[in-house]
Amino acid sequence: MTEDLEALKRAAAEAAAQLVQDGMAVGLGTGSTVRHLLPAIAARQLRAVRYVATSPATAEQAMALGLAIEPFDTLDRLDLAIDGADQVAADGALVKGGGGAHVREKVVAGAADRFVVIVDATKAVEALVAPVPLELLAFGLRATLAQIAPAAVRDGAALSPDGNVIADYTGPVGDAAPLAARLDGVPGVVGHGLFAAAMVSDVFVGGSGGVQHRTVRSGR
Ligand code: 5RP
Repeated sequence: MTEDLEALKRAAAEAAAQLVQDGMAVGLGTGSTVRHLLPAIAARQLRAVRYVATSPATAEQAMALGLAIEPFDTLDRLDLAIDGADQVAADGALVKGGGGAHVREKVVAGAADRFVVIVDATKAVEALVAPVPLELLAFGLRATLAQIAPAAVRDGAALSPDGNVIADYTGPVGDAAPLAARLDGVPGVVGHGLFAAAMVSDVFVGGSGGVQHRTVRSGR
């Protein structure tokens, strides 16, 4: 079963890897699905692509494969970003951050003209549910948690690469927009893992019948 799931992730990743073209600036996400994406991009032997990574783990794997990662302070926009997700709703809205990289992932997705999501079919959901990953400032942590209850620091999670605490909101989600606004309004919340459908351009879903390509919105 695990092997089957990996095959579905790989199929979605390989389909999305075909979108990378010479001359592009490309953001690379984080997670086990993205781990299949990087070799698929490297195999294309493109020569003039600039890459930024959303986590040290992705940067390390990409560089080992010969993809030149730049710090994300040399580019003011990206042509394309490709990343995984924990949940994808029918309208394209996402929950991300199972790997705790959601803040950098959202910065990269927000800078991209086209944000492409790659998932296996188990990630498709009717409606988004908790847990919703959070990145919180360590300063005032207890007070922040009290304002966004129910929420808890994630057991065993390392600090984010930006030195913040990884936690999860565990209450009802319902319509994600008001919850996102509520979380965005709390000063100690650096970011959360709710990604509105408006951010998402395409979703590639690896399933038993092949890869389904859903267009959520056309490029900016
Ligand atoms: C990391 C993420 C990942 O993209 C998400 O958790 C999906 O991971 P995987 O591809 O391993 O299922 O948001 O912060």
